[in-house]
Amino acid sequence: MRKIIIAGNWKLNKTIKEAVELVNGLKQDLAQAKEVDVVVCPVYTSLADVRNVVAGTNIGLGAQDLYWEDAGAFTGEVSGLMLKDAGVQYVIIGHSERRQFFGETDATVNKKIKAALNHGLIPIVCVGEVLAERESNKTFEVIKTQVTGAFAGYTADEMKKIIIAYEPVWAIGTGKTATGDQAQEVHKFIRDLLKKLYDEGTAQTVRIQYGGSVKPENTRELMSQPDIDGALVGGASLKRDQFVALVQNANVKK
Ligand code: 13P
Repeated sequence: MRKIIIAGNWKLNKTIKEAVELVNGLKQDLAQAKEVDVVVCPVYTSLADVRNVVAGTNIGLGAQDLYWEDAGAFTGEVSGLMLKDAGVQYVIIGHSERRQFFGETDATVNKKIKAALNHGLIPIVCVGEVLAERESNKTFEVIKTQVTGAFAGYTADEMKKIIIAYEPVWAIGTGKTATGDQAQEVHKFIRDLLKKLYDEGTAQTVRIQYGGSVKPENTRELMSQPDIDGALVGGASLKRDQFVALVQNANVKK
C-alpha cells in the first residue's frame, strides 16, 4: 500500500519570519498526523530556519528546484549537494512554472533527477498538460512525452525512489480542479506507462501526487481514487488552517 504524501509548494511566498510562524503552527497541529507524509517546500532562504523547526518531527523538508552541477561558475543556482547540506529531503523538479517561465525542459528535468538521487534527495517530478493540449485531446501524448523524457536512462531501482506529481496546468491557481475521475484517468495512464517502461512492481511502488487547486473541500474525493497517492498543494498550503484540514482529509482508507 502506498502511503499518501501531501506536500506544500510555497512557491515565491513568505519571508523567514512568516515561514517559521506557519511551520510552527503546522508542527503543533499535525503532530498526530502519522498516517500521511507531510512535506513543506519553502524558498531557499527559509530552508535552514524551517529545518530547525521541523527537525525530529514527522514534517519533511523540500526545496522547489536544484541545479544539476554540485558547484562551479553557475551564478544564482543551488545544487543538490547544498540542499542536502541544508537538511533538505525532497526536491520539486520540472514544475510547470519553471517550464513556462524559466526554460525548463524534459532534458533539464532528466539531469536534475540524477543530481537529486546522487545526493539522496527524493525528487518530486512534475508533469501536466496545458489547457489547449487537453482541449485538442493531446493530454496522454503530452504526459507520455514528459514521463519518457524525464526518466530516460533511469533504472527500476532509481524509479522506485521518485515521486511523480501530475499537475494539469489549467488547474493550477485557477480554482478549477480536475474532478476525481479526470485526475484518476491520467494517474492510471502514468502507472500503466511505468508498467510498460519498467515492471508491475515498480509501477505499484511509485507514488503519484495530484496538484492543481487542491483544497480541504476536494481532497477526500481526489485521495479516494485508486491511483492518486497524495497532493502537491500551492495556495492552500500557505494558510495553517487550510493545510491542516487538507492533511486531515487526505487520510482516506482505500
Ligand atoms: P495551486 O494549489 O495554488 O493550484 O498550485 C498547485 C501547484 O502548482 C503546486 O505545485
